[in-house]
Amino acid sequence: MKQEKTSSIPRENSLIDMFSRSISYLRLSLTDRCNLRCLYCVTEDESNGSLTRLRHDDLLTYEELLRVVRVAVAMGITKVRLTGGEPLVRRGVLDFIRRLGAIQGLTDIRITTNGVLLEQYGPELYAAGVNKVNISLDSLQPERVAAITGTDCFDQVWRGVETMLALGCAPVKLNMVAMRHINDDEITAFAGLSQRLPLQVRFIEFMPIGASSRWNTDTYIDTDEIMARISTLGELIPLQEGRGDGPAQVFRLGSDAPGTLGFISPISHHFCNRCNRLRLTSSGALRSCLLHDHEVDLRAVLREQFTDTAIAAALLTAIRNKPKGHDLEERIRQTGGDCHGRMSRIGG
Ligand code: 5AD
Ligand code: SF4
Repeated sequence: MKQEKTSSIPRENSLIDMFSRSISYLRLSLTDRCNLRCLYCVTEDESNGSLTRLRHDDLLTYEELLRVVRVAVAMGITKVRLTGGEPLVRRGVLDFIRRLGAIQGLTDIRITTNGVLLEQYGPELYAAGVNKVNISLDSLQPERVAAITGTDCFDQVWRGVETMLALGCAPVKLNMVAMRHINDDEITAFAGLSQRLPLQVRFIEFMPIGASSRWNTDTYIDTDEIMARISTLGELIPLQEGRGDGPAQVFRLGSDAPGTLGFISPISHHFCNRCNRLRLTSSGALRSCLLHDHEVDLRAVLREQFTDTAIAAALLTAIRNKPKGHDLEERIRQTGGDCHGRMSRIGG
């Protein structure tokens, strides 16, 4: 394949969008496949076994992904997050991560995982330079985890959490999607974990995307209510350094806690004005916003045009189209929460 020199592509810091946001963070969904079936991610049909998955040819190859990342890093991207589906189920992922780690200028490689394979892959991930992990875990009760994910995997995931902590990963973040009547009675137990372990426990507002049929205004709990419940355990001390490093508002629960708490409020408190990210779906669509369906077909660019200049132009187009903010509240009002986009395809 024709491989251009990267001299003709726009240089560093060219990734400024129409609203003066500097885009430095690329999220790569490596696969739409997953070894779990979380109730907020898959639809009822899918959880009964009829998942429609991308064909192998539809996925970007590792070579293609590496090429995109090289161009993006030359333009100013410094941070990459691997997501899915479940990124660790894609064959050859460790080798891919090692090659990613060799890209000069890419200073930060992170992963979002359901944790099922972390006990097994953690040490190699760490050795490859991935020491910042987000682990999705919505309950601390094994039977409930089984009900939410469709798999009896709590012990496995928890061993994954312990593996990453023992390796010295920092931060290890636990993502909990708070859902009324499903796991909201565990909000304080999750918060309490930060008083025992050096974790960042993050509470994420349930969004009406993915398996939107499960979302309703009753199941949704906003950050204010989550914080109010946690405040019964002790003082929530705001940590300034958490700001600017992603969408979470970060606190410590009591001054002695080894861990921290993060609150992610896509619905109740927009963080769009600080959003610095671009997403690439597993099938090669560039999305400048999780909640807007405008996409640039980067796979077609990769397979039909071949040049780094064309890849750079596609990245710039996506960034130019990055909306000022999302209209989720408006969409919820109009549709009752029926929004498009499959989380497992886009990457969370
Ligand atoms: N609302 C909020 N968070 C979600 N996630 C998946 N679907 C939703 C949703 N509808 C979260 C997962 C995981 C991350 C990738 O996205 O819990 O932590
Ligand atoms: Fe898999 Fe993540 Fe979707 Fe759960 S939320 S089914 S772990 S992709």
